Amino acid sequence: MGNRFYEAGEGRAERVNDLFAAIAPRYDLINDLQSFGLHRWWKRRLIQFAAVQPGESALDLCCGTGDVAFALAEAGARVTGMDFSAPMLAVAEARKVKVGEAAGPVFLQGDALRTPFPDAHFDVVTISYGLRNLASVDEGLREMWRVLKPGGRLLVLDFGKPDNAVWRGAYFAYLRFAVPVFGRLFCKNAAAYAYILESLQHYPAQRGVDEKLRALGAANARIVNFLGGVMSINVAEKLRG
Ligand SMILES: C[S@@+](CC[C@H](N)C(=O)[O-])C[C@H]1O[C@@H](n2cnc3c(N)ncnc32)[C@H](O)[C@@H]1O
Repeated sequence: MGNRFYEAGEGRAERVNDLFAAIAPRYDLINDLQSFGLHRWWKRRLIQFAAVQPGESALDLCCGTGDVAFALAEAGARVTGMDFSAPMLAVAEARKVKVGEAAGPVFLQGDALRTPFPDAHFDVVTISYGLRNLASVDEGLREMWRVLKPGGRLLVLDFGKPDNAVWRGAYFAYLRFAVPVFGRLFCKNAAAYAYILESLQHYPAQRGVDEKLRALGAANARIVNFLGGVMSINVAEKLRG
C-alpha cells in the first residue's frame, strides 16, 4: 500500500502541505534525531559550495523552518526564503525574531514551481530537502534555473541513492523501519516519516538531478556524496554569456 502523504501528479502539493502542517512544530527536533545531527553538517557544506560573496542575493526554495536561509544570510547574502507551508514559515519567523529582524532572511509564502521573481534575479539558488517533494522535479529545476543569474550557483541537497546495493538496502531499511518511529513518538504520525522513503523511491536522486542540470545547460555540474551516497549535494553553475 502507498503512503497517504504521497500522490503522483496534481494532488501531490496538497498532500505534502498537509504533511508539513502536521510536523512543523517538531520538524527541527526530528531532523536532529533521525540524522544524528548530521543534517547540520551537510547544510554547512551546502553553504560552503554556494561560495557566497558579501552582498550577493540568494533564494532558498522550500526553506521550511529556515536552516539554510539563515546560514546564507550569515555568510553575507541578502536572502529570500520561500515555502508554501504557513506552519513551517511560522517556525522560521519565530527563529528570525530570536536572531534579530534586521539580519535575517525575508520569508515569503509561495510555490517553488511558480515563483514571482524575474528571470536572472539571484546569484545563488538553493533547495534543501525540497526538490524530492515537488510535484515535478523537472519544473522545479527549470524554475530555479530561470531565476538564477548568469555567473550564479545552483545547489540541491537531498537524500540520495547509494550505488552500493548492500549499503542502499541497509539505508532503505533504516528509512522504512526506524525513521517512522520518530514520527510516531514525536508527532503521533508514523506515515509522515515513512513518506521519506516513498518519496525517495520516486525521486531521480543525485545522478538523475545531475543529468537534468546538464540538460538545462549547467556548467561544472558535480555531485558531492556523503556516507557513500546516503546524502548528496548537486552543485552547478550558470555560465555568463
Ligand atoms: C523537508 S522540508 C525542508 C525544509 C528545509 N529546506 C530544510 O532543509 O530543513 C521540505 C519543505 O518543502 C516545502 N515544499 C514542498 N513543496 C513545496 C512547493 N511546491 N512550494 C514551496 N514549498 C514547498 C514544504 O512545505 C517543506 O517546508
